[in-house]
Amino acid sequence: MKQYNFIASIKELPTHIKREIRESNFRIAATIILCISMSIFIFILSVFVNHRVRKFLVSDELYFPPITPTLSHSSSCNVSSSSSTKNGGLREWIAPSEMWHLMTDKELLWRASMVPSIAEFPYKRTPKVAFMFLTRGRLPLAPFWEMFFKDHEGFFSIYLHTSPEFTEEAPESSVFYKRRIPSKPVQWGRATMIDAERRLLANALLDFSNERFILLSETCIPLFNFTTTYTYLFNSNHSYLSSFDDPRRMGRGRYNQRMWPAISLSDWRKGSQWFEVHRKLAIQVISDVTYYPIFKDHCKPPCYMDEHYLPTLVTKVCPGLTSNRTITWVDWSGGGSHPTRFVRKDVTEGFLNQVRYGFNCSYNGGDMSSICFLFARKFHPNTLQSLLQMAPRLLGFNSSSA
Ligand SMILES: *[C@@H]1O[C@H](CO)[C@@H](O)[C@H](O)[C@H]1NC(C)=O
Ligand SMILES: *[C@@H]1O[C@H](CO)[C@@H](O)[C@H](O)[C@H]1NC(C)=O
Ligand SMILES: *[C@@H]1O[C@H](CO)[C@@H](O)[C@H](O)[C@H]1NC(C)=O
Ligand SMILES: *[C@@H]1O[C@H](CO)[C@@H](O)[C@H](O)[C@H]1NC(C)=O
Ligand SMILES: *[C@@H]1O[C@H](CO)[C@@H](O)[C@H](O)[C@H]1NC(C)=O
Ligand SMILES: *[C@@H]1O[C@H](CO)[C@@H](O)[C@H](O)[C@H]1NC(C)=O
Repeated sequence: MKQYNFIASIKELPTHIKREIRESNFRIAATIILCISMSIFIFILSVFVNHRVRKFLVSDELYFPPITPTLSHSSSCNVSSSSSTKNGGLREWIAPSEMWHLMTDKELLWRASMVPSIAEFPYKRTPKVAFMFLTRGRLPLAPFWEMFFKDHEGFFSIYLHTSPEFTEEAPESSVFYKRRIPSKPVQWGRATMIDAERRLLANALLDFSNERFILLSETCIPLFNFTTTYTYLFNSNHSYLSSFDDPRRMGRGRYNQRMWPAISLSDWRKGSQWFEVHRKLAIQVISDVTYYPIFKDHCKPPCYMDEHYLPTLVTKVCPGLTSNRTITWVDWSGGGSHPTRFVRKDVTEGFLNQVRYGFNCSYNGGDMSSICFLFARKFHPNTLQSLLQMAPRLLGFNSSSA
């Protein structure tokens, strides 16, 4: 009833008062519209200004993340970390700190094939030996290798290609800690084996300090101390990738006519899978796009790609770079398709010295050398204790506190 009365009373108001009420309504509406349009204008202006300011602050020359206003004026700005990021630009490029990455094989090989055009390095470069282990899982002889590497940090890098299912990490104190590279399944004798070898080489090539690259298996052992090994490799003008012409059925007999004309029978070579190559040859191996597909298509068992692809490739593209012999000794004298595997009772001083000094070979294409092999295989895990005992005296490894 009260409401009805009020409306009724407005109706009864004089017309000039009614007009005043209408005008004030109009003013309120106008004010509201003005306020809204001003705030829209201020909003647009602020977005514009913010954009300009950000563009100004984050110029193209700064490649670290955009500076947000709250960070730039706060005292928590970590100068040392941002400057190390700046220097890290080159540091990450010449030696990635993380083994793990998200590159596909194709991307990795391409990236690793980069060669600097300026011969002089803009930093102090100590040439390193890359030890590339092709294994299924854990390295059974790892303690022996640890002894070999001890006190030689900065002169070597380690790369592990394992089964993808193997995810066990070595202890933080180990030289093998976080040295696994992104790996894929490997079938012995097939193209996947070559893929793994190229993957190892490409990952190792990303570190510009790596100069010599050795492929090793989980049954390999070093035959000399680190110093001797390093000196032998760095004084050598050749790689140690074995390559020879085997006229027998298990050599030339595995040549496939369909490889012609790219590869002829006279190019066909055989050799040990366990190679040592220097940087120049490593780059040739990972950047081959001519012969690899031919082998992949036409070298299938009884043609084993790991015994023929690299020996034939070097003969085709750079025959002068290898000594044509391997530095990884293995005993085929037992016959059959697998070399002898040595167990605990075989590992004696006499036996090791026979392998260390019992051969003659050429070194740097000339003078005879009594050291022909730096590594040997295949050693059963139960040889570990004997090897560790003999190492300090026989091989001159530093065993203190090991
Ligand atoms: C800067 O940051 C790094 C890594 O985030 C840290 O190790 C270092 O102690 C920081 N330095 C200062 C002065 O805050
Ligand atoms: C290795 O073999 C190739 C041919 O297969 C030959 O051209 C090269 O000279 C050999 N290297 C040495 C050091 O004998
Ligand atoms: C190596 O060569 C030296 C000198 O030519 C010779 O005395 C020695 O018997 C050779 N050793 C072997 C294992 O052939
Ligand atoms: C090996 O290289 C060194 C220097 O790098 C050179 O003096 C020597 O003549 C080379 N030897 C051979 C056999 O090519
Ligand atoms: C390494 O072995 C060589 C002999 O092969 C020896 O002369 C040298 O002293 C050894 N080095 C160390 C550091 O034990
Ligand atoms: C052997 O190792 C100990 C302890 O790490 C070290 O102090 C010593 O210098 C090493 N000896 C050699 C010849 O490298």
